[in-house]
Formats: sequence, C-alpha cells, structure tokens
Amino acid sequence: MTRSQPSRASKRPASRLRPARSTLTQPPHPPIDDSALRPLIDRIGDAHVKARLEIETHRDHQLFGQGRLFFNLENWLTAPPIVRTALQLAGLYGRARREANRVLVRENIVASPRLPAAFDGFTILHISDLHVDLSEAALRHLISFVGDLDYDICVLTGDYRGKTYGPYQRATEGVGELRARLRDPVYGVLGNHDSIRMTPALEAMGIRMMFNECDVITRGDDSIYIAGVDDPHFYLADDIPKVASQIPMDAFSILLSHTPETYAEAAEHNFDLMLSGHTHGGQLCLPGGYAIKLEAVLPRHMGNGAWRHEGMSGYTSVGVGTSLLPVRLNCPPEVTLHRLKRTG
Ligand SMILES: [Fe+2]
Repeated sequence: MTRSQPSRASKRPASRLRPARSTLTQPPHPPIDDSALRPLIDRIGDAHVKARLEIETHRDHQLFGQGRLFFNLENWLTAPPIVRTALQLAGLYGRARREANRVLVRENIVASPRLPAAFDGFTILHISDLHVDLSEAALRHLISFVGDLDYDICVLTGDYRGKTYGPYQRATEGVGELRARLRDPVYGVLGNHDSIRMTPALEAMGIRMMFNECDVITRGDDSIYIAGVDDPHFYLADDIPKVASQIPMDAFSILLSHTPETYAEAAEHNFDLMLSGHTHGGQLCLPGGYAIKLEAVLPRHMGNGAWRHEGMSGYTSVGVGTSLLPVRLNCPPEVTLHRLKRTG
C-alpha cells in the first residue's frame, strides 16, 4: 500500500508547471543543448522539461506574479546596491562580509520509532544554497574541511547559482570542486536559482538529481526511501503526491525539497523527515537571529533549523551561500549533520 490516495492524486495535474504568458524581454541564455537533456527527458518526461524551460526563458527575471510570492525580491536588480549602501551606512558591511565566509557545522538529531533498526545512527550531510558564483569564499572554506566530516549520504537542497538567471557554468564548476571531496552517494534537487540545463553537468559528476522521484537505500534487510521534488517556490514544479505514491506506507521516508513551504503537503503524505533550504535563515538578522525577511510563505519558526509539523520532522538549513550580496548578519552559514535515531 502506498501513501497517496487515488482520489487525491486524481484531482491534481501531473505537474503544476504552467506555460509562460509573459512578454518580458528574453534574457541571454546559453544555447539549449537538447542532446544533453535527452536522458532527462526520457526519464521524467518531455512536458516537465519543456514547461520549466518555458519559465526559465520568459519569466526568470519576473518580479511579480510568478511562484509563491507576490514580489520576488531576488529578481530585483536594484536590491543589491540598496542593501550594500544600507550596511555601509550602518557600519556593518565589513562584519557582514566576514560572517558570510565562515561555514559552521551544525548537528541535528532526528528521532523516530518508525526508523528501521539498521539505520539507527545513519547520518546525512545536508548542504544547501551554495550560490557558488556569489559566495566563492564560503565554498572555499567548506571545501577546506568537508572531507573530514563523517556521514553516510550527502544531500544538496538546491540553489547552486548566484543569480536566478544567466550563466551557470561557474556554479556547476564549483559544485564539481565540492563533489570531488564528497563521498558517495550524493542526492540533489534544483532550487529557484537553478536552471534545468545544469542537470546534465550535475549528474555527470555523480549527483543523483531528483525531479519528483525517489530511491531506496538498503542496509541488510532494512530499507528507507529518499525522495526529491523539483523547485516548489518559483517554478511550482514539485509533485509530492506523485513521488509519495511510489513509497510504501510503512516505509521511513525522507523528502528533499528546496523550500519548506510545502511542509503541510509533505506531512499529509506521511513523510518522516523533510530537508530544505531556501530561506537563508533570513541572511540579514537582528541580534538573536531574528530574520528581517524570509522570502518564503511559512511560519517563522520553520525558517531556520529543526521544526516539526504533525508527525513529520523538518529541518531548514540557512545554507552555505547568500543571495543578492555575500553578506550575513547574526545568521552564519552552515552545513548540517542529521543523525537518525530509532526510538521506542
Ligand atoms: Fe538560496
């Protein structure tokens, strides 16, 4: 028995990706290499890839009316100079630049009576929001120590590129440098800053990119499921019922989703653990870590660190990199070691 009820699934289209309607000036993009995307098209379907490319081509600069937010601050070209000037006037710019460069390792215990015995102590390295080309110093720091961390699998929850549009080659190169220091297996999903055109390069370096798909992880006679959805924030490309329908009801399951904004739907479909990023924890916070703005539609306590919703555990990483500018205040960058613990 799987966890999606047919009646619920049948009411939902196969994907919430919608065709483009904007007449915005088309931004420059690298040429589409259809042959490189062919294996992905064969795997997840022509409709998904085409619909995402439509949005990437015509709407990735869009300020209003695309995705979960009415106004997409990350697409506002004037935002970086405003933020920089405000920090300089406050005398905080130098401190904010330094804080953004030092990546912390945070630990999180995930306790569940549903975890199979063989997975007690199973550890997940969670890396999110690298924003490589905007956050080179943070990536360099992460690369300097990530090889010393002890874990069983690594997950990447999206946002490899600095901006939400434009060239992505430096982003994939930087992920490649990091990937060379990670142990297998590595799973990943795309975020709202990423192009689906990055997928062939990411998969070529041995990252299992998930587009509303799942895999089984086995230890002895026990197994758990790991699932990943395409970006639910800007592209609305997630399909939780579809991926949940592939997972047995009694299996312990982990969902990778760039944003935690779909937490209610994930809990409704009986996921045990949801791992996300996207919020950057607010990136610029008041003393005590209080976020000024989260760029997400969700309760504030879900914007940074561990949380629970109904029977599901969740964790929102503040991420490694930054958006708009390489600055952070009272919200240092992180990678996370999630240790699974069997209870009961
Ligand atoms: Fe991000």
